[in-house]
Amino acid sequence: MSTAAINIGPHALRNRVFVAPMAGVTDRPFRQLCKRLGAGYAVSEMAASNPRLWASVKTSRRTDHAGETEPRAVQIAGADPAMMAEAARHNVDRGAQIIDINMGCPARKVCSVAAGSALMADEPLAIAIVEAVVRAVRVPVTVKMRTGPTPASRNAVRLARAFESAGAAMLAMHGRSRACAFGGRVEYATIAEVKAAVSIPVVANGDIDSPQVAREVLRATGADAVMIGRAAQGRPWIFGQVAHFLETGELLAEPGDAAIAALLREHLLDHYAFHGEGAAFAARAGTSAGTCRAGRARAGSSQISTCSTPPRRSSRRPKHSSRAAAAATRPTTFGSCGAMQHEQTDRPG
Ligand SMILES: Cc1cc2nc3c(=O)[nH]c(=O)nc-3n(C[C@H](O)[C@H](O)[C@H](O)COP(=O)(O)O)c2cc1C
Repeated sequence: MSTAAINIGPHALRNRVFVAPMAGVTDRPFRQLCKRLGAGYAVSEMAASNPRLWASVKTSRRTDHAGETEPRAVQIAGADPAMMAEAARHNVDRGAQIIDINMGCPARKVCSVAAGSALMADEPLAIAIVEAVVRAVRVPVTVKMRTGPTPASRNAVRLARAFESAGAAMLAMHGRSRACAFGGRVEYATIAEVKAAVSIPVVANGDIDSPQVAREVLRATGADAVMIGRAAQGRPWIFGQVAHFLETGELLAEPGDAAIAALLREHLLDHYAFHGEGAAFAARAGTSAGTCRAGRARAGSSQISTCSTPPRRSSRRPKHSSRAAAAATRPTTFGSCGAMQHEQTDRPG
């Protein structure tokens, strides 16, 4: 298992435990919270490559990095090489220090324009996008990908080699195909094949929800780092726990209620400062009446929903009324509901 420090281009990262980009979740307050609690790296939610959307509230918020711990990484999504190159330049001008290309999202909205993971089915286009973005900016360019379009047409190894030749500085791999969305078992073996095929850093992603699983995935894949998404929702301290375990072999206890309450309060204030208090409450109420799954108990007192998103461990719908759900979720916002960000049209990647 590699214990080497990891760099993305000139950026030396503090550890090998990363936050996965999650549209509607990994806004700046959440990324900052995760970094403060031990994450070595976090990527923004995907930002549109279409210039007509850059001035929208959603895209502007997604590209706002004020006060964020470096390096600041922005994920861009789109299907046109020239537009993606322009989007990369635009984001670098706004402070992005790393550009990540989304080839991992299976959402219909993203894939209907052949972006996200749909790009993996069009290899020449996928490669042209990486080449165009690498040419357009001086900062490192990374790619977030899946194993391929379907389990029967896994092309991650071929594409990984091509992306490396095109100049990509790192690859993050969710070990499922596009067709699998979030179902079935993660194929860590494909991540291991990709790692063996390239010499740039490879990050393993998918279903990592404890320090022990993180260590096992690093061992099984040989990957340079792990990336955690859903397990961090409601449990942002998981990054510190995983990092500590990887370094020392010791398991840290879950934080106590008082520590969680203090974190929640701080996070809520940061959240309202970023999104606007009135709007956040309005959206929260709307969320609860809609698709949001309400919080679970314990770690727990703070688990928050993933709007329209399959949570990893539970597919149960909330039993309580929307009003009760609003009350239950309002004070509990780590890895907040996408709906708090309004204009919510993205589905999970
Ligand atoms: C709510 C949600 C939003 C997501 N949005 C994105 C995204 O914008 N870009 C992306 O590359 N992946 C996105 N993903 C995929 C995650 O980055 C990650 O690959 C996936 O959740 C598997 O990791 P996990 O099992 O640790 O959650 C999203 C996932 C979720 C649950």
